[in-house]
Amino acid sequence: MAAAVLALGIILFPASSFNPFSRGVRAFAIPPLAQVVDQKSFNVLETVLPPAEANSTSGFVWPGVTEESLNAKPFHIYDDEFYDIIGSDPTLTIVASSDTNPLFHEAVVWYPPTDEVFFVQNAGASAAGTGLNKSAIIQKISLAEADAVKSKRIATGNVTVTVVPSTPQVINPNGATNYKGQIIFAGEGQGDTVPSALYLMNPVEPYNTTVLVNNYFGRQFNSLNDIAIHPTSKDIYFTDTLYGYLQDFRPVPGLRNQVYRLNEATGAVTVVADGFTLPNGLTFSPNGEYAYVTDTGINHGLLGFNLSDPSSIYRYDVKEDGTWENRKTFAFVAAGVPDGVHCDSKGNVYGGCGDGVHVWNPSGKLLGKIYTGTTTANFNFAGDGRMVVCGETQLLYVTLAASGAPIS
Ligand SMILES: *[C@@H]1O[C@H](CO)[C@@H](O)[C@H](O)[C@H]1NC(C)=O
Ligand SMILES: *[C@@H]1O[C@H](CO)[C@@H](O)[C@H](O)[C@H]1NC(C)=O
Ligand SMILES: *[C@@H]1O[C@H](CO)[C@@H](O)[C@H](O)[C@H]1NC(C)=O
Ligand SMILES: *[C@@H]1O[C@H](CO)[C@@H](O)[C@H](O)[C@H]1NC(C)=O
Ligand SMILES: *[C@@H]1O[C@H](CO)[C@@H](O)[C@H](O)[C@H]1NC(C)=O
Repeated sequence: MAAAVLALGIILFPASSFNPFSRGVRAFAIPPLAQVVDQKSFNVLETVLPPAEANSTSGFVWPGVTEESLNAKPFHIYDDEFYDIIGSDPTLTIVASSDTNPLFHEAVVWYPPTDEVFFVQNAGASAAGTGLNKSAIIQKISLAEADAVKSKRIATGNVTVTVVPSTPQVINPNGATNYKGQIIFAGEGQGDTVPSALYLMNPVEPYNTTVLVNNYFGRQFNSLNDIAIHPTSKDIYFTDTLYGYLQDFRPVPGLRNQVYRLNEATGAVTVVADGFTLPNGLTFSPNGEYAYVTDTGINHGLLGFNLSDPSSIYRYDVKEDGTWENRKTFAFVAAGVPDGVHCDSKGNVYGGCGDGVHVWNPSGKLLGKIYTGTTTANFNFAGDGRMVVCGETQLLYVTLAASGAPIS
């Protein structure tokens, strides 16, 4: 089969026009902050450590590289298609940091009218003290301030981080998305008495909020995690999972972990997918044809890791009527878990993973990584060529060639 394809390739694509096999030696200029990763260099290792030593949390530093060399040039090219994504001069800048408090965790929503990006603190992390005792907070930055320091690798102190006093407060916010000029946050809830809910927030003062849904036929959700708006129907899809319980700030779960859909016009809440261990991030392809859901199943929160569970992205076909079918395993991530997931304008898929943001083409081929060497639970584009990445104790600003998918 391979030989037949090869022969066909030679007949149909003489070297003078387009030779797909010459791509590897095509004269790409490697951008200053990029490096090429030769995957063959680690196909066969002299020593392959057992799972108790080499696993999703241990980090992978293969022969010929060091943690320093991986960080020095953080745009890792795994496939030539990545050159088009990063462009000729991508940048990565740490624009804010904290000692241990995971202030830069999730959401990541760009609000074009003020050119600000909103993000949230980790709910349930002991270093934050959030979860049961107090709610995680929402904060924001101005992208003009971030862009002014993009030529630096570290620019903490140059970018102002402002607390957003949502009113009534979004309790333990996590994922978020643009929605008709406003922002929807998934609140994970707090203890037995504050149910998990979707909150609509006005992105300008006084940051007033309205709860869109806080129950399923009278039953509390477990802990809502992330939200995505279907690009054409504008229906609100959201994931419900166990992290509130696995981080000790929500009761024993009363519902299955699954993905729901809310039709705002009728109020109807329906289930579109289940069968996950811990469903987490979700997004749609720009044309709405596909839905992507991450499953962070290996990470059981305070209970530790079960390495045989999913660390995967699943893809579904979205039918005309908004229901989903044809679940396909799109990617499995070796470093940490794929948490937040977003597409660019061309339908390439980006996932926030244990060592940075991984990028796949629509076939699930790994094109490259925006490497941070640390967990980046979520991130998002801020229009054309700009991205904000949450690294728990670091907030990063990235510039690259790719553009975000249109926002709802
Ligand atoms: C993963 O490897 C680290 C060492 O890098 C070890 O401390 C940890 O216990 C391992 N995790 C599991 C679940 O075996
Ligand atoms: C919550 O507060 C109690 C009492 O002050 C304290 O013992 C506990 O460690 C706190 N929990 C978290 C997760 O911070
Ligand atoms: C960033 O902060 C440094 C130190 O405070 C200051 O010298 C520099 O002018 C600032 N740069 C920008 C672009 O604001
Ligand atoms: C915020 O308040 C304004 C003025 O009362 C109202 O029109 C708007 O719907 C509110 N937005 C939200 C998200 O609650
Ligand atoms: C990990 O998950 C598998 C599949 O659900 C289960 O059989 C196994 O007992 C789990 N292991 C641990 C240590 O929880």
